[in-house]
Amino acid sequence: MNYTEISREKFEKLKTQKDVLILSVESSCDETSIAIVKNGREVLANIVSSQIEIHKLFGGVVPEIASRNHIKNITAVLDEALQASGKSLSDVDAVAVTFGAGLMGALLVGVNFAKTLAYALKVPLIAVSHVHGHIGANYISHLDLTPPFLCLMVSGGHTAIVDVQDYCKFDLIGSTVDDSVGECFDKVARVLGLSYPGGPNIDKLAKHGENAVKFNYKTPLRDTYNFSFSGLKTAVVNFVHNKEQKNEEFSKEDVACSFQELVTDELCDKTMKACHELKQTKLVVAGGVGANSRLREKLQEKCAENGVSLFMPALKYCTDNAAMIGAIAYYYILAGIGLADLTLTAKPTVSI
Ligand code: KG4
Ligand code: ZN
Repeated sequence: MNYTEISREKFEKLKTQKDVLILSVESSCDETSIAIVKNGREVLANIVSSQIEIHKLFGGVVPEIASRNHIKNITAVLDEALQASGKSLSDVDAVAVTFGAGLMGALLVGVNFAKTLAYALKVPLIAVSHVHGHIGANYISHLDLTPPFLCLMVSGGHTAIVDVQDYCKFDLIGSTVDDSVGECFDKVARVLGLSYPGGPNIDKLAKHGENAVKFNYKTPLRDTYNFSFSGLKTAVVNFVHNKEQKNEEFSKEDVACSFQELVTDELCDKTMKACHELKQTKLVVAGGVGANSRLREKLQEKCAENGVSLFMPALKYCTDNAAMIGAIAYYYILAGIGLADLTLTAKPTVSI
């Protein structure tokens, strides 16, 4: 039997196997990460090698540099993950990898690494969507969480409200019509002279400011579940440039705080409206902006007021990591989806 036949046969068997150990690989942006996850819920190891310090010098991720550093780091990350998990390669039942969305060159490093591993180990290769992975982060943070639920997806690449009817059944309720919320945080951070990555730095700065700045901005798309952040981004950029051109003093802390209040209000209002109208009593947060302290605080308040149970990933699983990929890959296997072969390639965009 050739590799494709062997992996198809093993993939079928995994659906009913008692324990499934997945080695997962994530390299969609500037984090090289490998995890070992058991049965989609138990993280035996999750090693994340961040390139933040390198990309900080350029004010953002430089794709070519990101791919080169993935190549440089990935085997050491694998060794570390195996050591931390106490497992060896022969224990691995399947290899899962993020195939998209993300930076093409960065993704290709992970995809080719995973293909090589799966082929050498003669185990199934599972192609995982990064967006689904962010939802999977909640299964390792909340062992009792099961679908159905509503998900607020807030990452650097996506901003959406998703109706998660089952582990692998996703229905898009609304999404951004322009920038993602993460891009908006990063752009505002840059105009305020904060270093990359901007989101966490806005979060920190906002704690020292007041909601005192009125931007020339009106919340758009009020009656839909869609978002638009480009207008707010432009309003903040114009405010700052205007002050700088006129040599007028302004408080960066207040700008950060006022911006963050508007963004988090918009996210909370639409999400709570969706929970109410779709009669959802479980809300799950996914993606890097889910680490934002003010968003977490407001959602906690609103959900408590409205009788909605709130699930947010542990902070270490909000931003990119391989454990979340291994978690959702387990449910791909149970649903019989995602099996890939050696022709697998990367995709810069994926739909939810
Ligand atoms: O989900 P993620 O790690 O990567 C993508 O899949 O895109 O999200 C990264 C985004 C960046 O825009 C980053 O600035 C933002 O998440 N982020 C935050 C915070 N931590 C990360 N934004 C606001 N507040 C934070 N604490
Ligand atoms: Zn991500």
